[in-house]
Amino acid sequence: MTSKYFTPETRHRRLRKTAALRDLVRETHLTPNDLILPLFVDEDITEKQAISSMPNVFRHPEKDLPQFLKECRSSGVNNFILFGVSYNKDDEGRDSMKKGGLLHRMISSAKDTLPDSNIIADVCFCEYTDHGHCGPIAEDGDVDNDATIENIAQQSIIAADAGADIIAPSGMMDGQVASIRAGLDENGFEQIPVLAYAAKFASTYYGPFRDAAGCALGKYDHVAKDRKSYQMDPANAHESLREAEQDLLEGADMLMVKPGLAYLDILHRVKQAFQVPTFAYNVSGEYAMLKAAHANGWLDYETTMMETLLSFKRAGADGILTYSAVDAARILNDN
Ligand code: PBG
Ligand code: ZN
Repeated sequence: MTSKYFTPETRHRRLRKTAALRDLVRETHLTPNDLILPLFVDEDITEKQAISSMPNVFRHPEKDLPQFLKECRSSGVNNFILFGVSYNKDDEGRDSMKKGGLLHRMISSAKDTLPDSNIIADVCFCEYTDHGHCGPIAEDGDVDNDATIENIAQQSIIAADAGADIIAPSGMMDGQVASIRAGLDENGFEQIPVLAYAAKFASTYYGPFRDAAGCALGKYDHVAKDRKSYQMDPANAHESLREAEQDLLEGADMLMVKPGLAYLDILHRVKQAFQVPTFAYNVSGEYAMLKAAHANGWLDYETTMMETLLSFKRAGADGILTYSAVDAARILNDN
């Protein structure tokens, strides 16, 4: 019928009429190559261990890493970022700076298993320090920036030696990218790119990850109970551009914004400003919220997850770190 009041000339609905038309005019596409799966490798268990706040995510026994990687690969995931669950912790996280330590072993094992995939080393110390902070603690109880960037260069060299394809520093220390770049270059790893967690916010959304990776804070009285002296204030957007610019000046090849959903504005601005490969981290708390809503019958996990991943790409992400990578790859490959 026609309305007696108004007849639109512009009809946006024309291109939404059929699935084929919608497919034809779609602006943003998600593919399995956009997905990076974070995984937890535990050096002290023999059976995979559930993480209660992250349904269907597990701590994997070190010995089972090859098998699990192969399964993920056959589901269509080709990019992996590894986190260690360590039982050899000390005040500096020395285990992660030596050959034969958990970081070195798990990266070597992953690279041997999937030589053609991207094995990304998250370089940071919180998984390996007894106090849970991202570097050694100075007299004042805060993380010692310059000691950390010396150590993180060493840790990066170890990761590169083990075969890491990409080094991803997540500690938010000043000068860490420059220190890592110099360390890699001096040791013959000038071809290994750095993916900087450029804008990483001090976020409550990391809660489930800290349980999973065993890096909760608060064990010692003399050290800070949060990471607010190094991770960014969630209120700051302009500062994230300065962080990203600095990381690029120091030699970063790619950038990351973390967390994801609550920081889509940051992701968009960083991508617009620098036009370099930029990634979003759809973090543990985001995964937990969706799984919880699904368990209650309030949201459908698969469709909501796919819509969320698409939103990162639409905002400018070139790829997404997500605990849903295997589920998403399966869905994409079935279509
Ligand atoms: C540690 C690190 C964290 C995450 C990735 N690397 C936790 C933190 O900074 O406290 C969080 C990932 C997630 O929540 O999924 N540098
Ligand atoms: Zn850390």
